[in-house]
Amino acid sequence: MSFGRLAVLVVLLASHLAAAVTCPGGQVVANKVTSLELFPVIKLLQADLFDGGECGEEAHAALRLAFHDAIGFSTSGGKGGGADGSILAFNKTETKYAANDGIDDIVAAQWPIFLQSNLSAGDFVHLAGAIGTGNCPGAPLLPYSMGRPPPVAPAPDLTVPQPTDSVTKILARFADAGFVPAEVIWLLASHSIADANKLDPSIPGTPFDSTPFTFDTQFYLEVLLKGTRTPGPGPLKDGEVLSPLAGEMRLKSDFAFSQDNRTACFWQEAINDQPFIMARFHDAMQKLQLLGQTGLTDCSDAIPVPKTFAGPIKYPASFSQANLKIACLSTPFPSIATVAGPAPTIPPVSGASDTQQTTAEPLALPFS
Ligand code: HEM
Repeated sequence: MSFGRLAVLVVLLASHLAAAVTCPGGQVVANKVTSLELFPVIKLLQADLFDGGECGEEAHAALRLAFHDAIGFSTSGGKGGGADGSILAFNKTETKYAANDGIDDIVAAQWPIFLQSNLSAGDFVHLAGAIGTGNCPGAPLLPYSMGRPPPVAPAPDLTVPQPTDSVTKILARFADAGFVPAEVIWLLASHSIADANKLDPSIPGTPFDSTPFTFDTQFYLEVLLKGTRTPGPGPLKDGEVLSPLAGEMRLKSDFAFSQDNRTACFWQEAINDQPFIMARFHDAMQKLQLLGQTGLTDCSDAIPVPKTFAGPIKYPASFSQANLKIACLSTPFPSIATVAGPAPTIPPVSGASDTQQTTAEPLALPFS
């Protein structure tokens, strides 16, 4: 190697070593300044919001909040600022939108931590979403960038899809924000760590699959099981369809996606392919977190690595391929074993009913 090339190598190595630093948690971060300032906030989030790093109700709700914040965006302009934290900063406005029903609980829970964080509202909302999701075994290590300016206005109403909307309407809304149909299906892996509190308020915490504390493809499998019952004692609500298991809720929109010829094969493709869905969800979430934002600094190395999912997924006890309503006929359905025993009743996600907190105060003017 020539002296010149060696000198360049030495300079490059030295600058890398100067930038990288090992943190108290053992992580080596490259973006020393930006990543290091996140550690106290992450510690606070894990301790005070996520009950010590759990994939519980608050982790689920933080991911939903990140989505509802970001999707208020249009590639042709005229809507909100995207992943800008407006849902937190302008909470008095955005929590009133029908599609944001129940979002006030996580806004109120995040608010005091946000005030201590010194982050912009957008950086905070999307950090909490990445950390909460990462608490769920099987989740990909989500990317995270920071440097979002404070939001300038609330997102307008009617940007967030509703479970009563048709596939055509939801796909059009996502297309307007820059997403193709496959990405919508991949983003819906989020419903594998999800539950509903407001769709049927008489049964808060009703999960969308039998494993709401694990990021896996069980959700995609169970949505394909023929629906036979309501999750609770009451009748079905608007936006809900029959589910296969006691205690499990199925959104009308999720079922419609699993059956529609524009999306059914993307739906089936995800089933029992954990590495595939981790990678696709990772990429779609990266796009979501960056909607409307430019010039951010990558601080992904500050995000803790999620636990892995042992897998494989299984049919819930008493179910098999015979119970499926398969809509993608062009590819064979994967072979999946069944859990032994009688059909389960899925318990609610605890903490979902006791999160009735007072709505957060809005930021001082002009953020009202
Ligand atoms: C495609 C259109 C979508 C519709 C119609 C939809 C609808 C819903 C509904 C109705 C709930 C239950 C709300 C309640 O009653 O408490 C819910 C929960 C949830 N959604 Fe979606 N969603 C969609 C897409 C997404 C996306 C793209 C994400 C994230 C990337 C997401 C993440 C979640 C999470 C994590 C929850 C659980 C929240 C909690 O447990 O508190 N959803 N969704």
